[in-house]
Amino acid sequence: MRGRFYIVGVGPGAPDLLTVRAIRVLERVPVLFVPKGRSEGSSVALSIIEDVVSLTNKEVIELYFPMDKVRRVSETSKTVRTAWQQAAAAVLNKLDAGLEAAFPTLGDPSFYSTAQYLLMVLTRNIPDLRAEMIPGISSINAAACTARVPVVLGDERIAILPATYEEEGIREALQSYDTVVFMKIHKDLDRILTTLRELTLLDQAVIVERASMEDERVIPASKARGLDLHYFSTMIVRKN
Ligand SMILES: C[S@@+](CC[C@H](N)C(=O)[O-])C[C@H]1O[C@@H](n2cnc3c(N)ncnc32)[C@H](O)[C@@H]1O
Repeated sequence: MRGRFYIVGVGPGAPDLLTVRAIRVLERVPVLFVPKGRSEGSSVALSIIEDVVSLTNKEVIELYFPMDKVRRVSETSKTVRTAWQQAAAAVLNKLDAGLEAAFPTLGDPSFYSTAQYLLMVLTRNIPDLRAEMIPGISSINAAACTARVPVVLGDERIAILPATYEEEGIREALQSYDTVVFMKIHKDLDRILTTLRELTLLDQAVIVERASMEDERVIPASKARGLDLHYFSTMIVRKN
């Protein structure tokens, strides 16, 4: 019988923020597929789990996902689609051999995770594939707890968007929602800071870099201009 496939959220970085369920699944499966953004890059998800899950006697297979931006699934480049197909074929190869396999992914699998594209291709090819998503603590939760801010309270509303979003959409979110979370803030920091200043929201925004990791930092947006932030940086704008 074909093996079951698990997409496992491994949390924001600290190994002790993995869930018990994630650890159980990762310990049980004989095969791990780990993502890496560049063909020579190492997997962050793997580095998070190797402190708490023994990799002895496990096969760890790296899957290459190009870093090309995916705005809409329907608009992806041929390079990206080919990489997804190749990754799906590698996973199916093991599942068809009757093995269970897991794909650990940073944070929670339902927020901006490459794992979803893999799952999409797999279930398109094999509609009755036995697959499970194991939730993880998202970097949004970790960033809010590190900064000690509530994300939303009462009947407040939240918008979550990549900081790479076009300017009009960013302004609209900031004007319409009580809390706005910007992910992937590192490259667009100064542009977002300018918008926040124009909307007089600079003092209500905080950035958390590498939340839950050893060298995590909380940076008020008013002091962030020009900083060279790590890719693992999230901004929370809380208007109330
Ligand atoms: C591709 S998304 C992955 C999100 C992930 N699935 C989650 O639930 O957190 C990558 C973005 O997540 C955010 N991120 C991931 N880990 C982080 C951390 N430890 N601290 C702050 N932000 C983080 C950053 O905004 C980063 O650019």
